[in-house]
Amino acid sequence: MLSAAPPTDKASLETISAIRPWAEGLYSFKTSRPTEFRFTAGQYARLGLQDAAGNMVWRAYSIVSPPQANELEYYVIDVPNGLFTGLLRQKREGDSIWVEKQSYGFMTAERFTDGDDLWMLSTGTGLGPFVSILQEPSTWQRFRSLILVHSVRRANEFAYDEFLRKLKSQTPFSTLPAQLHLVQTATRDVPEASDRLQGRITTLLLDGELERHVGLSLQPETARVMLCGNPQMIEDTRKILHDRGMRPVRRALPGQFVTENYW
Ligand SMILES: Cc1cc2nc3c(=O)[nH]c(=O)nc-3n(C[C@H](O)[C@H](O)[C@H](O)COP(=O)(O)OP(=O)(O)OC[C@H]3O[C@@H](n4cnc5c(N)ncnc54)[C@H](O)[C@@H]3O)c2cc1C
Ligand SMILES: NC(=O)c1ccc[n+]([C@@H]2O[C@H](COP(=O)([O-])OP(=O)(O)OC[C@H]3O[C@@H](n4cnc5c(N)ncnc54)[C@H](OP(=O)(O)O)[C@@H]3O)[C@@H](O)[C@H]2O)c1
Repeated sequence: MLSAAPPTDKASLETISAIRPWAEGLYSFKTSRPTEFRFTAGQYARLGLQDAAGNMVWRAYSIVSPPQANELEYYVIDVPNGLFTGLLRQKREGDSIWVEKQSYGFMTAERFTDGDDLWMLSTGTGLGPFVSILQEPSTWQRFRSLILVHSVRRANEFAYDEFLRKLKSQTPFSTLPAQLHLVQTATRDVPEASDRLQGRITTLLLDGELERHVGLSLQPETARVMLCGNPQMIEDTRKILHDRGMRPVRRALPGQFVTENYW
């Protein structure tokens, strides 16, 4: 994925306006927004940096901020020996980064034509698009329950925790019809907060603990599911949903789940 500097009709050089660390190797950052850039909550942007040889390196990053925000926010994990994240790691506030003017992705709430409960299942930085989706008032109008599940290795990786807990009680969201359930599960730590779980999303689905914890059942009649993050989690969860009679949303066919693989 290497190329020369991008044509300016395709991408624009934006400024990194803020960087917020969460834990070792985990951080969020904001860029200015290309004036022409439009997106739907759940979509991603393509960001570009030049390596030492002057070649462009492009990678996809889900947008965490809501569509009406002036800046674009992203939530990133520093991949060991990663080409792009190695370049990004050296950037500071005020530095420049290329942002493609086009947004991408099909993991949006509009893909579902029916259903009552929106289950958003994420691992690691796969949380990001759901933070955007949850800041859309239409999400809270459209569904009866919003269930956000975040699975991380260690308990110090629950990024956006405070923000998400506040979201439940913030106007305008608290006055809208849906109820938000926040489920955080650490797989390699014993939970230190009583409302947190331990174990993989797949395990929690198979043994029924996730549904018991939320108090809702995940079934084809009512549940619509979004899966984001680790491709193996997505693959394994697809099988579980399939066994429950659920199918992916296809262009012309309604279904019960949509997915976004990060690698
Ligand atoms: C649609 C889409 C949306 C994405 N959104 C995000 C996002 O919001 N935040 C984000 O951090 N990454 C996201 N990614 C991944 C991102 O595009 C890069 O692949 C990632 O940052 C690694 O780039 P790199 O050049 O540093 O690593 P590379 O040198 O390309 O190495 C890639 C390897 O890093 C690992 N890896 C890649 N992404 C992740 C990840 N997120 N978590 C754990 N391990 C990973 C995998 O083992 C992968 O094979 C997204 C990818 C896609 C396809
Ligand atoms: N997390 C960190 O502290 C950290 C910091 C810097 C860099 N990195 C690097 O980033 C990469 C991984 O980052 P990450 O921890 O965000 O992502 P990850 O490995 O995808 O783990 C995130 C969550 O997904 C779970 N998971 C993995 N495979 C699954 C499956 N098949 N089914 C269900 N759940 C599954 C993990 O559970 P398990 O724990 O059971 O696998 C964990 O809870 C690695 O290359 C790592 O070295 C990590």
